[in-house]
Formats: sequence, C-alpha cells, structure tokens
Amino acid sequence: MKITFLGHACLQLEVGGFHILVDPFISGNPLASHIQVDSLKADFILLTHAHQDHILDAESIARRTGAKIVSNFEIVTHYQEKGLDAHPMNHGGSWTFDFGKLKYVNAIHTSGFPDGSYGGQPGGFIIEGEHKTIYIAGDTALTQDMKLIPMQTRLDIAVLPIGDNFTMGVDDAIIASDFIECDKILGYHFDTFGFIEIDHDQAKRKFFEKGKDLMLLSIGESLEL
Ligand code: NI
Ligand code: MN
Repeated sequence: MKITFLGHACLQLEVGGFHILVDPFISGNPLASHIQVDSLKADFILLTHAHQDHILDAESIARRTGAKIVSNFEIVTHYQEKGLDAHPMNHGGSWTFDFGKLKYVNAIHTSGFPDGSYGGQPGGFIIEGEHKTIYIAGDTALTQDMKLIPMQTRLDIAVLPIGDNFTMGVDDAIIASDFIECDKILGYHFDTFGFIEIDHDQAKRKFFEKGKDLMLLSIGESLEL
C-alpha cells in the first residue's frame, strides 16, 4: 500500500493496483499548487464529509476519470443526481470493493455542503488491502468510539487530524492513538489556513515523548507500507 499526501486532508492510496483518492481539495489549496489535479489517477474517490476543504475537486476528477465516489448516503445522493457513479454507505457498515475492504466509521464533526444543503453525518474510513490496514479519521474530535476500532482491527497506520480548532489537535491525537492502539501516525489537516497552523517540531516531539511516531509528509511525498 502506497500513501501519497496531497495536502490538507487529501491522500492518494495505491492498493491492489487501484488508485483511491481521499477528500480531494487541491485546486483551492495554495500550498498544493505544484500538484496537477488534471493528471491525478482515481478509480475511487472517498469523501469523509461534505465540507468544501474535502470535496472541492471531487466532481471534476470523477467526471474526468469515471471514478466511483464512496461516502455517506446523503453525499452519494448529491453526486448521483449529477450523474456520477457512487456507492452509498453509512456508519458501521463495511463493503468489499475491488481494492479491498472499506468500513465507514464515526467521526465527531459536521457535514454541510458549501451551499448549506445537508451532507449527512461525517465519518472516517478503515481500509484493508494488500494485507495492510489504514484508518483515515477524517475531520473529528477525540471520541470514545475510536476504542471500538482495535476490538476488530489491528492498524498498520492511522491518519489523524492534528491542526486543532476544527478538529483534534496534537494532544488529543496522542490520546486517539492510544484509543486505536496504533503508534504510527500520519498527521493531516494542518497548516492550510491560519486557524490550523502548527509547530511541526513540537508536534513530533510530543508524540516521540509518548513513544509514538508522528510522520508529516510534504505535499506530494509518499510512504510505502
Ligand atoms: Ni470539515
Ligand atoms: Mn476540514
């Protein structure tokens, strides 16, 4: 499994020969101006929730690539009405796709579309493929529900928001990593706008002091599991 950070909360996963794009927000992110939206590959587009900083480029990429959008029922209905291919899920549900197994799990946040229409409830994803398992938390507060994850799943890596203000900050993300029993964390949802700028060295040091590893990739950088 290859994971590429595309800025803010956008990731591209390569699993089982498929390209999975998560929460594409690239054209609106000045920090990601070197990423060419029009050349990104996508077989699937996963959307955690309907906020602009997670869906901005989803429609254009889905039209160009024919990618299947996977999200909650309300977000999927929104895209189906635009004629796009989409697979609806809801919290607690799993489905086996061509790339592997996906579970849509709880997140504590909101999920309105940019025009104010209802975007259902926000979520996160647990993806199993190529014998690796990744948890992508989405925008979320620290929540006790995270303790349910290790009851069924041994995570190889977790992607957690660390920017604070709109989501968990670093201190809560460290507690989250205890809840999910995963010490290998990729941080996201930081630095994009003023409210979520963080001190990288301090964040890494705080994780290190708890015996955990916080990875911060530069935009366009990848890691391999
Ligand atoms: Ni959000
Ligand atoms: Mn967000």
